[in-house]
Amino acid sequence: MLSWDDFDTQPQPTTKTTEPRPAPETLQQQEVTEARPSYGAASAPASPAAHKAASSAVEAARAAVAELDPAPGLEELEMGAARVQVDEKRIINCRADLNQLVPFKYDWAWQKYLDGCANHWMPQEVNMNKDVAMWKDPEGLTEDERRIVKYSLGYFSTADSLVANNLVLAIYRLITNPECRQYLLRQAFEEAIHTHAYQYCVESLGMDEGEVFNMYREVPSVAKKAAWSLKHTQSIGSPTFKTGTPETDQELLRNLVAFYAVTEGIFFYCGFSQILSMGRRNKMTGVAEQFQYILRDESMHLNFGIDVINQIKLENPHLWTAEFQQEVTQMILEGMELEVAYARDTMPRGVLGMNANMMEEYLHFIANRRLTQLGLKEQFPGAQNPFPWMSEIMDLRKEKNFFETRVIEYQTGGALQW
Ligand SMILES: [Fe+2]
Ligand SMILES: [Fe+2]
Repeated sequence: MLSWDDFDTQPQPTTKTTEPRPAPETLQQQEVTEARPSYGAASAPASPAAHKAASSAVEAARAAVAELDPAPGLEELEMGAARVQVDEKRIINCRADLNQLVPFKYDWAWQKYLDGCANHWMPQEVNMNKDVAMWKDPEGLTEDERRIVKYSLGYFSTADSLVANNLVLAIYRLITNPECRQYLLRQAFEEAIHTHAYQYCVESLGMDEGEVFNMYREVPSVAKKAAWSLKHTQSIGSPTFKTGTPETDQELLRNLVAFYAVTEGIFFYCGFSQILSMGRRNKMTGVAEQFQYILRDESMHLNFGIDVINQIKLENPHLWTAEFQQEVTQMILEGMELEVAYARDTMPRGVLGMNANMMEEYLHFIANRRLTQLGLKEQFPGAQNPFPWMSEIMDLRKEKNFFETRVIEYQTGGALQW
């Protein structure tokens, strides 16, 4: 256990020193002396030329520090400006200092950050032994079941990378609120864990990595979903893109809808329900457990994105025109269509107690949910959820594991051993 009390005893392991600690003045003096050593004293004597070069480097560093402007930065800070007031905070186009997390305005964003941290997990914690045996056993899975595992890993192994890139390379700098950015940083790490989880499954099962990681470019039903997401990163991902006009603000909203409501809110649902259905039938339970943790994270990403979009609408009602609402509705429907095509491609026949028609009904239900979450009209009145167990899995609490393989207690920093 790391303890600050050990600090004094560490440098003298053989004898306990009885020397009194130096008075504060002496300590200060020592620090000053140590901060300006004579160059080369610790090793071989330096040549006069080397000594001169080192001295001028130090002089140059001192001069640069003396001239340092204490108030520059990405968001053009103003030295001595008034402290940040809650009312100044805005999700987009905020002019207040973005380095001051508090006072909080969007408690929901901070709470999601805390909840995300409380749900921390790592892929290696999941036992994959039974999956490896089942995958290698020629009788372990049917061809249709194998196809589902392959397609799921094929789509997701690159999809989470697209989401992570969109977060850090496109939307992070455009979301001008520190509590939301705190969540975006947590989400970005979770996306890295998800990509890790898929890679861990592919490696454990000994799958053809080239085939799996290239499906998003080679298999049409997978590639179309990836291409649709990528299309919505392009414009705002440009380093010259700026928000601040109705057109550019709407472009950012399109990206948020495309990634949070469609990519994470629709494109993940066919693959997730197929793999989780497999786990419920006691097949590929390790892969299913990984997907279960990922789904829990993803439902939080989705809810965060919906909250961000709705808050932007609230703060900028002029963006949410009738025409724009129609456009967003169409985006949700396009996403749903692409996911139905993926369902038909991955399930040419009934498998695991589901088939493509049931999946289509489920995706109508999901599309209705996304539309109402954004304050838009449902497009499939009366659509039912044929897989109610999916909602139960998403609501899972940290301590409860659906497949009851183990109880998770995450190690915290307080238990570090050095
Ligand atoms: Fe993810
Ligand atoms: Fe995500």
